[in-house]
Amino acid sequence: MSSEPVNVNDFKELARLKLPKMYYDFYAGGAEDEHTLRENIQAFCRIMIRPRVLVDVSQIDMSTTILGHRISAPILVAPTAGHKLAFHEGELATARAAAAAKTIMILSYSSTCSIEEVASSCNAVRFFQLYIFKRRDISALLVQRAERFGYKAIVLTADTPRLGRREADIKNKMIAPPMKNLEGLMSIDVNSDQGSKLETYANETLDASLSWEVCPISCSDSFYFYFLSSLGIIFYHPQDIMWLRSTTSLPILIKGILTHEDATKAVEGGVDGIIVSNHGARQLDFAPATISVLEEVVHAVKGKIPVLLDGGVRRGTDVFKALALGAQAVLIGRPVLFGLAAKGEGGVRTVLEMLKNELEISMALSGCPCIKDITRSHVRTQHDKL
Ligand code: FNR
Repeated sequence: MSSEPVNVNDFKELARLKLPKMYYDFYAGGAEDEHTLRENIQAFCRIMIRPRVLVDVSQIDMSTTILGHRISAPILVAPTAGHKLAFHEGELATARAAAAAKTIMILSYSSTCSIEEVASSCNAVRFFQLYIFKRRDISALLVQRAERFGYKAIVLTADTPRLGRREADIKNKMIAPPMKNLEGLMSIDVNSDQGSKLETYANETLDASLSWEVCPISCSDSFYFYFLSSLGIIFYHPQDIMWLRSTTSLPILIKGILTHEDATKAVEGGVDGIIVSNHGARQLDFAPATISVLEEVVHAVKGKIPVLLDGGVRRGTDVFKALALGAQAVLIGRPVLFGLAAKGEGGVRTVLEMLKNELEISMALSGCPCIKDITRSHVRTQHDKL
């Protein structure tokens, strides 16, 4: 491509031209037949915007607050693995770009720069994404490191009891990118020269027994607790979430919710936020497009905790649609990786700026000067009556 990119999609092609095929496929690919991968994009196209005119849009304010953190626009950087495969500075470059855009970066536990390196390289608000390993002590240690180094929330990814079948990676014999945070911690040496196959590594390390299973609250010394217990009223909480809660005082978000049933359980389990996500269509093929289930989750949550969404967000209008259907913000995964591969830190900055500019125009042309002005009535889905 000879001309400069004018939208986020242009970065995909630039990245394809620049990256070794194995790495491009790792970033771009989805699970099995990639039905969900296509659907994540196409489902946005089936939602129309209902613009309102003759509203004063001479000033547009895209700023918003997520878990108490003020950001310039409701567009966050999703946790994705292996940024050094795209660019030699890896997550350090991404974090600086997030800081420049005044947004939140969610660092993947499987980053190629460490929790500590990213913390010292920039002043972006950072959340830390976690899986729960069979070795719980390792998960607890990562959480403690993140908390000590100023990360502001823990994002527990719940959709990966096993790794989805990403067939391009299987064909390419893709190995797990080096994981800086796990150096010296895992018996499976994910950082060895030979590496380990993605699936082997994931399936041997991640705890597939994680569940919503509840247990009575066992340790409470409050008079109130004993009083209620004596009346036969006992509190039940999901023990795995409780365990994570016991390791940190940070807010916990669950990433990977796609149904109202799980959204209700997450609220009951006391988490602080939900990310509607199908892992960028890399886990279960034929999982629904995230935008198509957002409203179901939002209704179940009833405004008690923030709901965020990722998957297929490529345009400012996509951000607008997600907000209209009840998301507080969106996350972007691949566009950041493609920006990083194409032009390093500057590429990620441009990607974030492009989406912000497009959102600003969408808001102006729809009659929404502020984020809170974007409402359900600004979109029409296929399920809406005319
Ligand atoms: C991811 N994603 C992801 N999610 C997570 O919780 N932990 C991780 O380590 C990763 N790693 C990862 C690597 C790559 C290459 C991709 C593309 C994605 C999923 C990610 O957080 C997010 O859910 C999706 O990327 C969002 O979809 P889009 O924006 O890529 O369409």
